[in-house]
Amino acid sequence: MSKKKITPGGHVTGVAELPGDKSISHRYAILAALAEGQSEIFNYATAADCRSTLECLRRLGVEIDATRERVRIRGAGLDGLKAPKRPLDAENSGSTMRMLSGVLAGQPFTSTITGDASLKKRPMRRLAEPLRKMGAEVRGRDGDLAPLEIRGGKLHAIDYMLPVPSAQVKSAILLAGLYADGITTVREPVRTRDHTELALREFGATIERTNEAIQLHPRSKLAARQLTVPGDLSGGLFHACAALILPDSSVMLHNVGLNPTRARVLDFLISIRAQINLASVQLRDGELIGDLSVRFSQLSGGSVSGAQAAEMIDELPMVAALGPYTEKGIEIRDAGELRVKESDRIATLAAGLRQMEAEVEEFPDGLRVGGRFAGKLRGATIDPQGDHRIAMALAVAALGADGETVIGDAECVGVSFPEFFATLERLRGTTSRE
Ligand code: S3P
Repeated sequence: MSKKKITPGGHVTGVAELPGDKSISHRYAILAALAEGQSEIFNYATAADCRSTLECLRRLGVEIDATRERVRIRGAGLDGLKAPKRPLDAENSGSTMRMLSGVLAGQPFTSTITGDASLKKRPMRRLAEPLRKMGAEVRGRDGDLAPLEIRGGKLHAIDYMLPVPSAQVKSAILLAGLYADGITTVREPVRTRDHTELALREFGATIERTNEAIQLHPRSKLAARQLTVPGDLSGGLFHACAALILPDSSVMLHNVGLNPTRARVLDFLISIRAQINLASVQLRDGELIGDLSVRFSQLSGGSVSGAQAAEMIDELPMVAALGPYTEKGIEIRDAGELRVKESDRIATLAAGLRQMEAEVEEFPDGLRVGGRFAGKLRGATIDPQGDHRIAMALAVAALGADGETVIGDAECVGVSFPEFFATLERLRGTTSRE
């Protein structure tokens, strides 16, 4: 297990190079595998999670040639996947397991999908229930935990209201809907990221959205595409927040994904007086992208709750860790879903921030982190519980602390952002530029 030492101080300046967006990469790979013809995906995420998706697709017989520049996928067509000889391994990736399960539900064979110790603890009933309603047989361990054995077959279209806001479950139902006998409708009480809907449209599916319902026509033939993945805003946020808390900092993020279902964190940060500018906003391959510049700011602090908490779910660890750098602190409520992510993110954050002597109050559905008045953070030894977003959030918080911080198991950042520490060092000028 690698450790990473963070020496506080200094500032960050320059352009943060971002990997491709993790959520979008999964979707492009899966749809390219189901399309007819050869797709090329540029700026595919370097995240280990997205490699897990490619590996699972290979085990389903899909030909994939991946280089640093692009991922070339020879589509098998909707009916061309092969029964895997071994279980599919999603490793740490909830998106891989949940989205691929939707595809597996429509196949004329039985397959098993498993994952690492963390993924085997995460809730899968929310996924198994709608897939069963569509006619697939889904068997998990007690309480529908992974590994999941999925016996696919002919599926019925359903009209389904998501009981919890989850883009992964929504996506699984829509992907299964490609194999259904009618129009599949998914309703969501809170709007979640819509990359699957946008990507399905890019690949040629017929899909419509009204206020709260998404409707997918079955058996739409998907056609191969050349697509470029936007930069990962959820990853870039960490470097942006380093700029917000270190005086004299200014960081640029180019071609970053600004899809409104992902960019709520920017609205929130601007509302607490972060200096963030947007430029060159444009639509590319159905997704909004643009350039961001972020400067050191005197943050006021505030609270996130209700729909906003769901919309900012992946960004909440970093937002919470900004608390001690704000005037009033940060409060997060209605975010119970954080407890079933790669770790129990409320507990892991509370423990890490307390270790750094922040003032923290923990609630069942969130936490409150005291502002500057509660005193400066102190460097500490942090165990992120193997959770990439916790490791990165606390590494950023450590930049403004008194004394050194050691992040244990720091290589876990590779799940979403393997270049995170190298990029941070480059922006701080603590490594020579290439
Ligand atoms: C994701 C959806 C969210 C998010 C995860 C990625 C996606 O999970 O937390 O990191 O790509 O659809 P849920 O669907 O469980 O909310």
